[in-house]
Amino acid sequence: MSEHRVAVVTGASSGIGAATARALAADGWRVVLVARRADRLAGLAAELAAGGGEAAVEAVDAADGGAVAAMGSRVLASWGAPSLVVNSAGAGVWRFLEETAPEEILGMAGAPYLAAANTCAAFMAAMLAEGRGHFIHIGSPASLMPWPGATAYTASRWALRGLHEALCMDLVGTGLASSLIYFGEVSSEYFEANPGSHEHIPAVGRWIPRSTPERCAEVVRRVVRRPRRVVFHPFTLRLMWWAAKLAPAPTRWLIARTGRRH
Ligand SMILES: NC(=O)c1ccc[n+]([C@@H]2O[C@H](COP(=O)([O-])OP(=O)(O)OC[C@H]3O[C@@H](n4cnc5c(N)ncnc54)[C@H](OP(=O)(O)O)[C@@H]3O)[C@@H](O)[C@H]2O)c1
Repeated sequence: MSEHRVAVVTGASSGIGAATARALAADGWRVVLVARRADRLAGLAAELAAGGGEAAVEAVDAADGGAVAAMGSRVLASWGAPSLVVNSAGAGVWRFLEETAPEEILGMAGAPYLAAANTCAAFMAAMLAEGRGHFIHIGSPASLMPWPGATAYTASRWALRGLHEALCMDLVGTGLASSLIYFGEVSSEYFEANPGSHEHIPAVGRWIPRSTPERCAEVVRRVVRRPRRVVFHPFTLRLMWWAAKLAPAPTRWLIARTGRRH
C-alpha cells in the first residue's frame, strides 16, 4: 500500500459520493469529503472515524473556483497530493429550456461541470509533480444519448464528458489517468433533490435496471484498482450505447418517441 492513499470525493454528503467515500475508507484510504452540507459531511466523517477510518470535512460549494482552490491548499498542506479525485458532485432539474430559469442553467453548469473542473485544477499541479494519480468522473447517459426535456442538465453533462476527454489527452505520458463512469438510474436522493426530473426518463430508459449507490461505489472501487477510460454500469446501458452506435437514427427515434414532451 502506498503512502499516498489520499482520496478527494466531491458530492460526499449523499448517494454515490457518500457510498464511494465509505468504500474507499474501508480500503484504507484517507478521504477528503467535499459537498455543501457540513452537517452531513460531519456525520459521515464521524461514522468513518468510528470504523477506524480517517476523513477530513470540506464543506464548500465546488462550483466556486476560489473556494475549491482554498480547499485544495488546505488538503495539500495537511495530507499532501491526493492519488485519487472522484467527482460525484452533481445536481440538475430535467426540464425543457423554456422552463428553466437562467440561475438554474448556471447552477447546472456549476455541478457537475465546474465542480469537476475546479476540483481537478486544484490538485493537478501537485499530482503531476508526483507523477501519478487518477481522476474519476461520475457521468450520465445524457452525454451519450440525450433525451427530451433535460436540456441544461444534458449540456452540463456533455461539458463533463468534454473535460474528461480533454484530460485524457492532457495526461498522456504523465502517469495520471482520467476515467468517466456512466451509470443508469441510481436509487440515491437525486430525484428527491431534483423534483420533476424522474418523470422525464424516457420509457426506453426503464429497460436499464436501477443500481444502488453501494453498487455504484463497488464499480468505482473496481475502476480505482484498474483504471479504464470509459466504464458503463449496468451492462444494459452498454448494450444501449452499442445500439446507439450501430443504429444511431433508430435509437434517437426510440428515445425521442418514448420521452415526454410535457
Ligand atoms: N441518481 C441517478 O440516477 C444518477 C445516474 C447517473 C449519474 N448520476 C450522477 O451521479 C452524481 C451523484 O449523484 P447521486 O445520485 O449520488 O445524487 P445525490 O444523492 O443527490 O448526490 C449529489 C451530491 O452532489 C453534491 N453537490 C451538488 N451540488 C454541489 C456543489 N455545487 N458543490 C458541492 N457538492 C455539490 C450534493 O451535496 P450538497 O447538496 O451537500 O452540496 C450531494 O452530495 C451526480 O452528478 C448525478 O447526476 C446520478
